[in-house]
Amino acid sequence: MTEFTDHAALPPDFAWGTATSAYQIEGAVAEDGRAPSIWDTFSHTPGTIDGGDHGDTACDHYHRWPEDIALMRRLGTGAYRFSIAWPRIVPGGDGPVNGRGLDFYDRLVDGLLEAGITPSATLYHWDLPQALQDRGGWTVRDTAHHLAGYASAVAGRLGDRVRHWATLNEPLCSAWIGHLEGRMAPGTRDLTAAVRASYHLLLGHGLAAQAVRAAAPDAEVGIVNNLSTVAPASDRPEDLAAARRMDGHTNRWWLDPVHGRGFPADMVEVYGVQLPERPGDAAVIAAPLDWLGLNYYFPAVVADDPDGPAPFARQVERPGVPVTGMGWEVDAGGIETLLLRLTEEYGARRLYVTENGSAYPDAVRADGSVDDPERTAYLERHLAACARAVRKGVPLAGYFAWSLLDNFEWAYGYGKRFGLVHVDYATQRRTVKGSGHRYAGIIRAHRAAHSGSAA
Ligand code: IFM
Repeated sequence: MTEFTDHAALPPDFAWGTATSAYQIEGAVAEDGRAPSIWDTFSHTPGTIDGGDHGDTACDHYHRWPEDIALMRRLGTGAYRFSIAWPRIVPGGDGPVNGRGLDFYDRLVDGLLEAGITPSATLYHWDLPQALQDRGGWTVRDTAHHLAGYASAVAGRLGDRVRHWATLNEPLCSAWIGHLEGRMAPGTRDLTAAVRASYHLLLGHGLAAQAVRAAAPDAEVGIVNNLSTVAPASDRPEDLAAARRMDGHTNRWWLDPVHGRGFPADMVEVYGVQLPERPGDAAVIAAPLDWLGLNYYFPAVVADDPDGPAPFARQVERPGVPVTGMGWEVDAGGIETLLLRLTEEYGARRLYVTENGSAYPDAVRADGSVDDPERTAYLERHLAACARAVRKGVPLAGYFAWSLLDNFEWAYGYGKRFGLVHVDYATQRRTVKGSGHRYAGIIRAHRAAHSGSAA
């Protein structure tokens, strides 16, 4: 059975949300003083993005945000996770703050609050100002301090209305995919650069957390990581060791330092790169967090790959296992396993699923509707797994579906659709998909389960 029915497991004040990020939906890349980010540069570099796509217009959310808030109201969501574009706020990366950039998020936050939707702001979802990249980007320490400067400006302006702040979204992607694999901006393939970037991202996280708290004392600050369960492809000792390395690369490298355990020694050895550590950094990185965000999409099943890039482990394809339109294996049990791990191994006291969702090739029917049973099943199975985790004691406070809208899926361009709402990019017409209607029904049923009335 795929239907999600255990609404009673989730607490009455459970946050039902959707998530997006700035570069993926906003467009308006040259408006109101915004300067280019590394994603503008990367996406306009020939050969980097499927179909030659870029985020110049995306979902035109910069102009259509009132319509998008109205969509959230239709879905009945009570929370919205969005990211703020650093190159709108501090176009040069450091230095002067652009008031017109802040004005946009001011309007958005006020609109959300008027609609009864709680804003949840992410400071960095990969759109580093190009001006900082030109000075070394995340490979240099100053960038971590500049993140904190920008965070201070944003929290100073919005902190009277936004309580829920994430410093970084998926630093793994910035460091490993952006600097080691080169499939994301800035498109580097260099292990030393990647390890240095990973270190400075986490240092930036700690400094930004301090800056947000200084500017907005009531702020609740967290970090968002994309984690995977990791299993060996076989019982061979080489594959078991590869799985351990992949777990270090994907999970422990990002979790251990922020929990005061330092960078995992086994992985420091695997990478063989000197960390740019200075006295006091470890404590900054391990600043206590109010909450932890889990982005979960797929499990990793890995085999030893001695000739590949670090961590010398490669994902294997398993015939017959269902995959999404991204080719990612579907395993709802993984979200339960990871929520339990964060609770039991890392002592998490408040967790959110800050992203979870699936891409499938949607077809718009003749009557204009979009029926997406596979995405709906994915949603229901993962919510059921979340409910099981809660019944086992996981302090899960909310779930944010990725994504509100179909949007710019990075190197895959507009070809991969994750939205609960379909976007016709030629007309910018939005259509709630079957999965969006089902999500709305689940939210209503959850409210009813806690108020004693029927949905
Ligand atoms: O679209 C991305 C998002 O920006 C970060 N998390 C994963 C999503 C799907 O790939």
